[in-house]
Amino acid sequence: MNALEVVNVRKTYKDKVAGKPVEALKGVSFTISAGSIFGLLGPNGAGKTTLIASITTLEEPTSGEIRVFGESVLDQPLKTKMNVGVVHQEVINTGFFSVSEILDFQSGYYGIYKNKERCDYLMQKLSLYEHRDKKVKQLSGGMKRRLMIAKALVHSPKLLLLDEPTAGVDVGLRESLWKFVFELKNEGVSILLTTHYLEEAEQMCEQVAIINKGELLYNGTPKNMIADYSQKKMILTMKDGNVHQFTESQKLGVSDVLAKHHVDINQIQDIKIEEGRLEDAFSKMVAL
Ligand SMILES: Nc1ncnc2c1ncn2[C@@H]1O[C@H](COP(=O)(O)OP(=O)(O)OP(=O)(O)O)[C@@H](O)[C@H]1O
Ligand SMILES: [Mg+2]
Repeated sequence: MNALEVVNVRKTYKDKVAGKPVEALKGVSFTISAGSIFGLLGPNGAGKTTLIASITTLEEPTSGEIRVFGESVLDQPLKTKMNVGVVHQEVINTGFFSVSEILDFQSGYYGIYKNKERCDYLMQKLSLYEHRDKKVKQLSGGMKRRLMIAKALVHSPKLLLLDEPTAGVDVGLRESLWKFVFELKNEGVSILLTTHYLEEAEQMCEQVAIINKGELLYNGTPKNMIADYSQKKMILTMKDGNVHQFTESQKLGVSDVLAKHHVDINQIQDIKIEEGRLEDAFSKMVAL
């Protein structure tokens, strides 16, 4: 079963920017299988937030279709709402209520009136419990973002959309946040996330899609993307003190590279290999 199917989605914003309509999505298709973590990656303005807004029916695609657990989001908006949790990129400052009140209201919005256990659990997991009586305006930026994540999860959605969940979250909390995301995945939640931290995407995501200027450039595993688009660096220190550096396709093994450059293996003192990273592959692809 697919958690999400995005089928040839186009979105043209009619309100004109720079005198002409903006084609934010130019026919994007991909699927997310249930229970996996999927990274939607792309530079600023690529169309990531537009796609997320289209999944939650906040925006309507100009053409194409989006299905959540097999059902068209536009045909079944209520089901979509119950199945999907979303953390928007922009932090919203609703100032006057406390953390625990906000989670209460959010539960009520989904028709769940006795949700204390779930809310307490989420506050614990997201390091918000000790801040539960603080009003939103008293929270730091990172706390606000964690509150938004808790809010998105009060109704135990099966598909979670995270638009830049770690922007502005400090290193320690970022790690605990990812741990929590893994826990959700292990409970069977499907996750779509966007991030500009490609190292995180490399570690977290089973599948990634790269979009740029509204077009899908790649859809596959980070491992394959690295193999297809990045290079590894091999630094050889020879017994005579010379140092050679070779930058080669990720697909070539050590012996291939040595043979290619006619290096006598007996003359090598030391080899250091720097594997290609998703970030290199991404930069190369987006610059194409
Ligand atoms: N409401 C809107 N009206 C007109 N144009 C819009 C609107 N929202 C987004 N756009 C345009 O659509 C394109 C895609 O924007 P989007 O916010 O989806 O990008 P993004 O990939 O989320 O970028 P970022 O990484 O900066 O968050 C951009 O050119 C943007 O200016
Ligand atoms: Mg965005």
